[in-house]
Amino acid sequence: MEVIRHDIVIVGGGAAGIRAAIAAVEANPDASVAMVSKVYPMRSHTVSAEGGAAAVARDDDSLESHGFDTVKGSDFLGDQDVIQYFVEEAPKELTRLEHWGCPWSRNDDGTVATRAFGGMTTKRTWYATDKVGFHMLHSLFQHSMRFDNIVRYDEQFVTKLIVDGGAVRGVASLDIREGTMRAILGRAVILATGGGGKIFPFTTNGNIKTADGMALAYKEGVALKDMEFVQYHPTGLPGTGILITEATRGEGGHLKNSEGERFLVERDYGVGTKAELGPRDMISRAIVQEIEAGRGLEGPYGQYVHLDLTHLGEEAINKKLPMVRELSKIYVGVDPVFEPIPIRPVLHYMMGGVDTDIDGATTLPGLYAAGEVACVSLNGANRLGSNSLTECLVFGARAGQQAVAFAKGSDDGNEAAYVAQAEEEAARIEAARAATGGSEKIAQIRREMHDTMESGCGVYRQQDTMDATVGALAQLRQRMSDVKLEDDSKVFNTELTSALELDNMLMVAESLAVSAAHRKESRGAHTRRDAKTRDDQNFLYHTLCYHDAAAPRLDKKDVTLGTWIPEERKY
Ligand code: FUM
Repeated sequence: MEVIRHDIVIVGGGAAGIRAAIAAVEANPDASVAMVSKVYPMRSHTVSAEGGAAAVARDDDSLESHGFDTVKGSDFLGDQDVIQYFVEEAPKELTRLEHWGCPWSRNDDGTVATRAFGGMTTKRTWYATDKVGFHMLHSLFQHSMRFDNIVRYDEQFVTKLIVDGGAVRGVASLDIREGTMRAILGRAVILATGGGGKIFPFTTNGNIKTADGMALAYKEGVALKDMEFVQYHPTGLPGTGILITEATRGEGGHLKNSEGERFLVERDYGVGTKAELGPRDMISRAIVQEIEAGRGLEGPYGQYVHLDLTHLGEEAINKKLPMVRELSKIYVGVDPVFEPIPIRPVLHYMMGGVDTDIDGATTLPGLYAAGEVACVSLNGANRLGSNSLTECLVFGARAGQQAVAFAKGSDDGNEAAYVAQAEEEAARIEAARAATGGSEKIAQIRREMHDTMESGCGVYRQQDTMDATVGALAQLRQRMSDVKLEDDSKVFNTELTSALELDNMLMVAESLAVSAAHRKESRGAHTRRDAKTRDDQNFLYHTLCYHDAAAPRLDKKDVTLGTWIPEERKY
């Protein structure tokens, strides 16, 4: 087996991973960093981000205001020390990215242009038309190429963390191109693999987002935190789930029902005068309620409502939302200059993830996490749109710096023992590849996982369906052991990688459903029909979910409060 050694191993090549790599080599120019990614980094899911990244930029804005908006958006479950640090670092990170080449859109006077986003008090979302992820990722990637000591391993699927003597020591990785396994050893490992939206059937997430990093940490005894909180973005295209950015509403778009009413204005959905610029959890619920009340429209992919941009005019749409126009024309045959776009809520983001502290450190020494895979507790029970790209930069950088410091105080350890673990893992993967004798099909198990996640852990939840989902997932996990692969080839065996991904998703889905079933209140994106109010008395805490052979085990962690005292969340 090929054995490779670096100081730091970063798993994931999106915004958080690349930012962590740059921070690591800037903090210690002698450090060598492996960036191990399931895809070529330009194909990381960051590339699909559209609307923008939040940071205070205007004279009429303040860090205090960004902080409070984030705390309130989180339904008071965000950690306030984390939020404080985030809002302070955010403008520095976005400015730094400009110096690395990110073409932020400008105002006529040359200052950085900002747009309105949901739940934010003022315009603080920096953008580069509506292709923000594309430009951010390219700027980061190009900048990372200045450093010879960032070494890329593309199209490598990390299947195991190597853990020895109570610390992480590297990863075992499947080379998807060749079907061979490698041991990539390091004194510290940073997970930056993104979330797991593909656990759900209807999602904005790309196919690569299969919760791999969460599963890696979870299997090694690290808790997944606040997994019950998943975000439905209000505006996805029916059928594909492709995102229609919130920037459409930031630029003045309206949501309308079958009667042509702006229902967020006509009815009380808790968003007050913010209307279409309310937070995502509330707007997604409003759309579901409109549909349930019979005011939806019927299409080939079920019920939907309208996102109307026609009053914005062709010039504004072409200038600020060109990709929205293109996507709408291609995927639903609608030109938003002339007609409203059909949309419905779509699974977009996981607030929960690998439990980390403010440094991105997990409870497993040497293991760090940043970006959507992590739960540093910035977003609490509901993330505000445009905070996540900035989060990848702020906490990617911090994790990179901290990992380098950790690595400096560590040693190379017992390499033979680590390689032995990687060889054991290689044998497991080889057995999976040769599993042609079973009777279960990947596609069928995945379909059943999707169905049960949507029925139990969707926009609205209740005890009996959540419990049913917990039971169904336990059975699906058992059935996974009898999965049959048709393809035993080595090169780009996508059936094998699909099986490994499904294994990861089922494990993480179970932690999500178990966490959801235990929280007997409604908070942020976790909305129960049978427990309609927030209950700070009993549930103002983070949920920790630990892997256990029998069934996931739950625990609690305090929320770090501060200046902002929990109050009723209304707009
Ligand atoms: O709507 C959007 O552009 C999404 C942004 C985000 O999730 O932060």
